[in-house]
Amino acid sequence: MKEFQTSKAIKRLPDQFFATLIDKLNAYERKGWDTINLGQGNPDQPTPDHIVDSLKEAADNPEFHQYPPFHGYTFFKEAIAEFYKREYDVDLDPETEVAIMPGSKTGLVELSQCFLDPGDVALVPDPGYPDYWSGIEMVGAEMKPMPLLAENDFLPDYEAIDAESWEKARLMFLNYPNNPTGAVADRAFFEETIKEAEKHDVCVIHDFAYGAIGFDGVKPLSFMQVEGAKNTGVEVYTMSKTYNMAGWRVAFAVGNPSVIKAIETIQDHYFCSIFGGLQKASATALLSSQACVEELASTYEHRRDLLLSGLEEAGYHVEPCKGSFFAWLRVPEGYSSQSFADALLEETGLFVAPGIGFGASGEGYVRIGLNNSEETLKEAVVRFKKFAEK
Ligand SMILES: Cc1ncc(COP(=O)(O)O)c(C=O)c1O
Repeated sequence: MKEFQTSKAIKRLPDQFFATLIDKLNAYERKGWDTINLGQGNPDQPTPDHIVDSLKEAADNPEFHQYPPFHGYTFFKEAIAEFYKREYDVDLDPETEVAIMPGSKTGLVELSQCFLDPGDVALVPDPGYPDYWSGIEMVGAEMKPMPLLAENDFLPDYEAIDAESWEKARLMFLNYPNNPTGAVADRAFFEETIKEAEKHDVCVIHDFAYGAIGFDGVKPLSFMQVEGAKNTGVEVYTMSKTYNMAGWRVAFAVGNPSVIKAIETIQDHYFCSIFGGLQKASATALLSSQACVEELASTYEHRRDLLLSGLEEAGYHVEPCKGSFFAWLRVPEGYSSQSFADALLEETGLFVAPGIGFGASGEGYVRIGLNNSEETLKEAVVRFKKFAEK
């Protein structure tokens, strides 16, 4: 069959490292191996009933069978503003400071398309969520990795960024609570970020995907809570993790009006917002009791404690993650992140994500997801022990 040539933009797209890994896992499963998938970031629990019920009811509403307003329903934008006021005491104008997105994966790619030209630089966390790279590569811009090192509490060191990169930088991606390291940001770090961003005229995109998942009694800080943040960029929030709604594809961005306007402009060409029923159920999620969210965070915390104490007994020390649902394990001496992940899979059926897939500074680590039941995590610990004893 004739093979059509793709555009240069498509050719520039980075390999989907994790799609390749999943193929590997699937191949083992087809062979009948008893595998445990600790490598993915998919919430394992169902969406709370009251949110599903709200969607069911909304599905019967003929208004939602029509095209939704291009920029989404006002009731959803108002619910987002109310959520930010209640949770973070942040004031948002629903008209100009909120944009609805079909999942944050898409939104993060759009943001690069909105603000980067060839030759521009985007500062990205390393290790970091690989989908930041996709939009940057698509538009032909350059990436400048900001290493997140254990000795800096997995926060970037702005002084280490060279003058030329600052000069060319137009966007900076940040993500706390952090995937994959589990680190959180404090107010002082966000204040420093705002200072640097203002100085170098860089727009900050704070990815708050794990905003609801903080441990040890500490609620993760929203970037928007820090003075000057709205002038400096936006925060991207997804329904996927907070409400176990990953399959629903609903997210939003809040903050700087010019960034919000750019998102809505690009979306005028890509989408006609998202199904009204999804917006209705998402508004229900944001405005109802948040007991399900508290329960979710404490479930992940419990799993973290169980996994880490088991790993400690098996001889692996992991610093307790402070948020997100990932443990970031330093691989034993003699292994690379990939060779450790391969050996674990081959010898025990445990599938973990090699740190190198998140960037060069992820080398030496693997990411273990807490998105598995206690029973599964206990079994995983047994297998880690076996592996350590061999
Ligand atoms: C850091 C981070 N950002 C964004 C996303 C994308 O979330 P979604 O596209 O479901 O909104 C994920 C998903 O794993 C993530 O880990």
